[in-house]
Amino acid sequence: MIRFSKVTKAYPRRGKALDDISFQVEKGEFVFITGHSGSGKSTALRLLHFAERPTDGEVRVSGFSSTVTSDRELWKLRRRVGMVFQDFRLLPGRTARDNVEFALEVTGTRRGEIVSRSNRLLSQVGLAAKSGARVEELSGGEQQRVAIARALANEPQVLLADEPTGNLDERASRGIMDLFRELNASGMAILMATHDLELVRAHPAIRLLELSQGRLAFDSSLGVVTEAPPGPEAPDRTAAPVLPGGEV
Ligand SMILES: Nc1ncnc2c1ncn2[C@@H]1O[C@H](COP(=O)(O)OP(=O)(O)O)[C@@H](O)[C@H]1O
Ligand SMILES: [Mg+2]
Repeated sequence: MIRFSKVTKAYPRRGKALDDISFQVEKGEFVFITGHSGSGKSTALRLLHFAERPTDGEVRVSGFSSTVTSDRELWKLRRRVGMVFQDFRLLPGRTARDNVEFALEVTGTRRGEIVSRSNRLLSQVGLAAKSGARVEELSGGEQQRVAIARALANEPQVLLADEPTGNLDERASRGIMDLFRELNASGMAILMATHDLELVRAHPAIRLLELSQGRLAFDSSLGVVTEAPPGPEAPDRTAAPVLPGGEV
């Protein structure tokens, strides 16, 4: 349902943020994308959301193709693919409910359904009791739950999360991970970028894609480095892959 085929993303004067990356994610999978700061995690997620297009190669998501789907069709893709961010990106000064209802309005939900659906979404993320609170009155973990409820408004098949626990303490992070695992158990694919290796280690069953300087360095589902086979000038990748935390 998600396929990166030889994807390169280059920025003018910045070189390649992603360099010839290929991988596939099946329906309902949960995947961590890890790697140091600047390794290309956010770029990969932006490409999956079609916020940007690859310089080379193709990204396919839920039947949409980066080389075929036009900008005018993006709203269709965005109904299938939700996204949340480290900094939540909620409407300031508005309540949790407003934030979710606004998303429902944008998707064309009928007026009569909006209130009941936003209630359901806020309950789903454990925020029913706080639905009338302005976002500034909520903790970081609660704000992220609002952002997740909003992303769920479209009933997406895929949830993209860019460092969703990056601004949260350990307890709130655990709560968000529990929520993601519930959503995943109900069939939603989740791709979550994180450089929090503690969190990655705490979930050994979740597939891990590790980026290193824009290259795919490790895919735990294959158990091997998936880079192109070492050419004459390539570094020796036959050694054991570098696991999160740097142990070899
Ligand atoms: N809009 C952009 N313009 C220019 N360079 C960018 C842009 N976005 C990302 N980059 C560069 O691409 C590389 C990967 O960035 P990013 O995907 O944000 O990494 P990560 O999320 O892993 O920290 C970095 O070198 C970054 O400076
Ligand atoms: Mg990033």
